[in-house]
Amino acid sequence: MIKTVEWTEEGVRMIDQRLLPTEEKYLLLRSCDEVAEAIKLMVVRGAPAIGVSAAMGIALSTKQAAVSSVADLEEDFDYFCDMMSRTRPTAVNLFWAIERMRDAFRRAKADGATQVDEVKRQLVEEAKEIFRADIESNRALGRFGGELIPDGATVLTHCNAGALATAGDYGTALGVIRGARDAGKRVAVIADETRPFLQGARLTAWELQKDEIPVTVITDNMAGHVMKQGTVDVVVVGADRIAANGDAANKIGTYMVAVLAREHQIPFYVAAPVSTVDLKIPSGEGIPIEERDAREVTHIREQRLSPEGVAVHNPAFDVTPNEFIAAIITDRGVARAPYTESLRRMVEG
Ligand code: MRU
Repeated sequence: MIKTVEWTEEGVRMIDQRLLPTEEKYLLLRSCDEVAEAIKLMVVRGAPAIGVSAAMGIALSTKQAAVSSVADLEEDFDYFCDMMSRTRPTAVNLFWAIERMRDAFRRAKADGATQVDEVKRQLVEEAKEIFRADIESNRALGRFGGELIPDGATVLTHCNAGALATAGDYGTALGVIRGARDAGKRVAVIADETRPFLQGARLTAWELQKDEIPVTVITDNMAGHVMKQGTVDVVVVGADRIAANGDAANKIGTYMVAVLAREHQIPFYVAAPVSTVDLKIPSGEGIPIEERDAREVTHIREQRLSPEGVAVHNPAFDVTPNEFIAAIITDRGVARAPYTESLRRMVEG
């Protein structure tokens, strides 16, 4: 099993995704500041993985706080939560995980915890539970989604929505592929390279190869061609935030893939746990889109590609309108249009 992020008593351990696939290096992050920096720099990335890491970072620094009252502990805790909420704006799993940690603090106080150590213990337990639940929910999502994949299918995916984008193990979009494989189906994957951060070429290809699932990498501008040739049976992607009406934000380029899939009558599925659904946002127009450093576009690692001083636009995500989505595969079942009703049912249980 790929261990994307792990709790240890010394700190949060994670694989440095910036270096994959050429180097497999693990970092031990010893404070909330270090975890927040790792999220910003994309040492760890992918909506559920960001949420799990944030919860662990908050628990870690709260545990280290040298305070003697629960009120002082809460002040430090709030500071850590605020720090985490400023790391990346689009993936709602981050804010969902921070809210779960805030709820855990409130619960500890309501239960009458007057000892600082008891509150700290409950926060560490909550972070570990968020980790455990993520792995479990992706297994469930994989089982539901696996049923939608025909035997012998070639699945196109964009970005990395695999073990590396979650707490580990199955992933979301790749969880659907693993679910199909574990149900005994033959399945092959086409991975879009995913400019500019190359999550597809580097991360999806790396983890599928490790899992011995056949994978072919293409550059993003080849997707239309392979669809036209009839090579793609299904598209499955992850999501960073799904609005109440089913509009789904995911890695930049996803919208382009959805438009192509519709033109070629290929089912386009979004796979995400219910923690990615944001019922507070009515449509995709309200989803904040992160603008990242121009250097990600002008350079590949140290190599400059564009002339110095050129204007650059680097939105990290785009929004696919709900009418392009054949179904949203969640950990509680498969939601279909009209999404306003089906997603609410999934989220509210
Ligand atoms: O910028 P990233 O690499 O964090 O973006 C990741 C994606 O867009 C994933 O597809 C999404 O988070 C789903 S991960 C299960």
